[in-house]
Amino acid sequence: MLGASLLNLTILILQFNNFYGSITPQLCHLTRIQLLDLSRNNISGTIPKCLNSLTTLTQKRSSSQTIQHSILGDYLGGYISGCYDDEASLTWKGFRAKFRSNLGLLKSIDLSSNKLIGEIPSEITYLVGLISLNLSRNKLTGQIPSRIGNLQELESLDLSRNQINDRISTSLSRIARLGKLDSSENNLFGKIPIGTQLQSYDYAYGGNPLLCGAPLPRTCPEEEKGPGQPVLVNQDGQDGLITQGYYISIGLGFAVGVWGVCGTLLLNRSCRYTYFNFLNFLNDWLYAKAAITRQRILNR
Ligand SMILES: *[C@@H]1O[C@H](CO)[C@@H](O)[C@H](O)[C@H]1NC(C)=O
Ligand SMILES: *[C@@H]1O[C@H](CO)[C@@H](O)[C@H](O)[C@H]1NC(C)=O
Repeated sequence: MLGASLLNLTILILQFNNFYGSITPQLCHLTRIQLLDLSRNNISGTIPKCLNSLTTLTQKRSSSQTIQHSILGDYLGGYISGCYDDEASLTWKGFRAKFRSNLGLLKSIDLSSNKLIGEIPSEITYLVGLISLNLSRNKLTGQIPSRIGNLQELESLDLSRNQINDRISTSLSRIARLGKLDSSENNLFGKIPIGTQLQSYDYAYGGNPLLCGAPLPRTCPEEEKGPGQPVLVNQDGQDGLITQGYYISIGLGFAVGVWGVCGTLLLNRSCRYTYFNFLNFLNDWLYAKAAITRQRILNR
């Protein structure tokens, strides 16, 4: 599909067509691609794992603010040369937007509204230059890559309407710029990660019945128990204070205590010396103290 002449492509927008079949791994040869929009097609298969070879997207800096093209050629009998700034329209934070004066700064992947299956490849977390990522409205499963927080430049992330099915990644809270996060209509669970800006902007989490924490009305289990309440909450009312968890904590406590002393002595040489030196000292001291006391008593 991709000839050598295409390898310098910086923008590829094929949205709103009827393309079908899977994404060829040759896509990853587009090392200079900045904007990749294959949204609203009928593309199936998985997202290729080789995404980390999209070199431009793995870099945070942009070489220029605009994307310029030069024109050279004959025009109306004369020879002209010049250049122009490229422009592109795409979905940006949920709205159609046209970019021209800052198109060069935009680094975006939009594969939304297709029939992609499988997991989001963890290689995507190498694309640290990405400003916008839209994988929504597919049939993606599995989990959100745990290092998604590496995408520090992300301003917009849309993973909604998939079948993503895992604890929501707390590393999302590391993305300070994230102004739009849509993870709705998946099967995510856990506490919503709240980052530096996360309270103030536009977040959609709905349709994940097991997500909890602000801004959702459902509070997380750890938060439900206030400071004055007992540590062991027994919701079923069947057994008393002593539950399986209680035995496990006794066991754990014992193990930690014993291992804390013996383990340190076993593992740490200098600690071992200090400890036994101290015992020797204590022994001598007690002995001396006892001897002196005995002498005193005898002298009376
Ligand atoms: C999408 O692809 C499926 C087969 O994968 C086909 O049955 C369907 O007609 C296609 N839809 C469109 C809108 O092209
Ligand atoms: C993602 O793409 C869908 C269309 O496929 C669009 O409706 C949605 O608004 C986009 N999300 C963002 C955050 O731009």
